[in-house]
Amino acid sequence: MTAAPVGLPGPRSEEPIRVPLRKVLADGRWALGFTWRTAPAPAALLVASELVKSLVPAGLTVAFGGLVDAASAAVASGPGADPRRVLAWVGAALGLSVLGGLTKIAERHAGRRLLDELEVRLTGEILEHAASLDVACFEDPASLDLLERARRDPAASFHLFLLNALHVLGDGLQGFTLAVVLAVVEPWLLIPLVVLALPYGLFQWRTAARRYGQETRYTTRRRWSQYFVQLLTRAPGVTEIKLLDLGPLLLERFRAVASQFRDESTRILWRSSVVGAVFVVLSSVALFSVLAHLGLRVLAGQATVGSLVVFAGAAARLRAVVEETLATLGSALERGLFIQNLRAFLALGPRLQPGGGRPVAIEGAADVELAGVTFTYPGAGKPALKDVSLHIRPGETVALVGENGAGKTTLVRLIARIYDADSGRVLFGGTDVKELDAADLRRNIAWVLQDFLRFEATAEENLAFGDWRRLLGNRREIEELARHTGVAPLIESLPAGYDTWLGNMFGRQDLSAGQWQRLAIARALARPAPLLILDEPTASLDVRAEEELFRRFRELAAGRTAILVSHRFSTVAMADRVVVLSEGRVAESGSHEELLRRGGLYAELYRLNERMR
Ligand SMILES: Nc1ncnc2c1ncn2[C@@H]1O[C@H](COP(=O)(O)OP(=O)(O)OP(=O)(O)O)[C@@H](O)[C@H]1O
Ligand SMILES: [Mg+2]
Repeated sequence: MTAAPVGLPGPRSEEPIRVPLRKVLADGRWALGFTWRTAPAPAALLVASELVKSLVPAGLTVAFGGLVDAASAAVASGPGADPRRVLAWVGAALGLSVLGGLTKIAERHAGRRLLDELEVRLTGEILEHAASLDVACFEDPASLDLLERARRDPAASFHLFLLNALHVLGDGLQGFTLAVVLAVVEPWLLIPLVVLALPYGLFQWRTAARRYGQETRYTTRRRWSQYFVQLLTRAPGVTEIKLLDLGPLLLERFRAVASQFRDESTRILWRSSVVGAVFVVLSSVALFSVLAHLGLRVLAGQATVGSLVVFAGAAARLRAVVEETLATLGSALERGLFIQNLRAFLALGPRLQPGGGRPVAIEGAADVELAGVTFTYPGAGKPALKDVSLHIRPGETVALVGENGAGKTTLVRLIARIYDADSGRVLFGGTDVKELDAADLRRNIAWVLQDFLRFEATAEENLAFGDWRRLLGNRREIEELARHTGVAPLIESLPAGYDTWLGNMFGRQDLSAGQWQRLAIARALARPAPLLILDEPTASLDVRAEEELFRRFRELAAGRTAILVSHRFSTVAMADRVVVLSEGRVAESGSHEELLRRGGLYAELYRLNERMR
């Protein structure tokens, strides 16, 4: 049985992603600037300790060489020789050794501080940016992929990039100083090392690009498999998954994606380890050949024992440093590609044209008008709304009726400028919504969404979120709102009343679907907005709750314009006027009685409904 996800973009090849060096360097500069602005003190300490740490090995090698030569000279000059030179070299080695140890501690300290600071700032910026994006970005797989990659442990990735980049610099400096020390003793060891290092460095670059390519190609599938992990592990999905016995199928699909990723990863890993091993063997052979040659020169009296000590220490270290530097460079590049993705995400702009920024100036109820509006969702084959014209006068209550997919929710979304119409105009209070400040426009609309949220928060907060700037922490007003909207008895019956933590992620008090919906309606009514939109507000309500809403509706909607989207004729009856949508067009409009008399789509739907009763 194959568990390949149908229709998902899958990994096509293992080819590395092409990344221009210029871009990597620009991203690196940006990352350093960001770090500096975030935490200058830890960043400075980190750089300083890395620099000092990288100079210590060459210094120690020289000190040991000096010590051996000073000791040999003292031995040669016989008993009573002056020990001061020997002691001076020991002192130098001691100082360097302590310095090396201290810089490691300083490095760890600064690194941890930097990580903590980055966590706060970077994750904060990612969330802030996500909050500034249009809904359209969250309904588009490509920007969701960018978000997914940016949000996966951003601080750790960023931090790793910085540490790796810093280690490359530090190791590079260490390698350079060791090379200088070696060049004094035996310059031509450097030639084979450089000849070997160049292709190895290039290989590391390709491996990094390959790994990143893998990450990129798999993002959609990973998101998809994460989705199944969520279905299997999150409370709302679990019941349905159990009833459908979908566990084994979802698990199999998860494993299929995870093991595909693992297999490709293993291939890249093997290749990288084998090439790394070849580099280690070849560079060691080169090193020890030169060491043997130098040993012969010491025996022939052409070089000192100290120079042999310096060479052996410096050359072994240099070989390791070159190998480490190049491998770290590979990791830095891989992480650098993460930075590239992060920047691409942060550069995602709003899809909607910036609004005119005019504040909404409406006294009382809103006048809402759609004039010849046509709209197609991005990527959709056919328009969701076609040439819709509709004028809702201040204080009027209009019911939007129509079959599933007719375009009712889309229509109200355009009023709140969740999307912009492709053609035609949407006017709010007589002004084109494109000229208004979008945030202000939305503040002037109270809305119960068809797929409203169930906030894992207290009952009080579940209401206060409807107008949090005014209501949060204001218990008296919340209680008044609850009484006014009829949810007070429900909240008072909860174990801790208004303080009861709802939902079962953090609390223990879940509500029924209808109880949640009643809270959502009350939340929408919390805001004294000139337009009230209720999208399927009664779908889960029992007869008594629906009757109560019906009874109170006039009072609740008093002084506002209201749009009611509903399939229930009992709810529709609350409206002054009914507008029937069919396949994205306004099919009919009029009062309940008028439409019944006309005998069109509304009358047909009504008759069907009556027949079922
Ligand atoms: N986010 C979206 N992206 C792409 N297409 C969408 C999106 N939302 C809705 N559609 C499509 O737009 C059309 C209208 O959908 P809409 O949600 O407005 O219908 P509706 O009248 O509210 O239906 P229902 O009664 O089921 O709530 C449908 O064909 C639907 O497939
Ligand atoms: Mg809908």
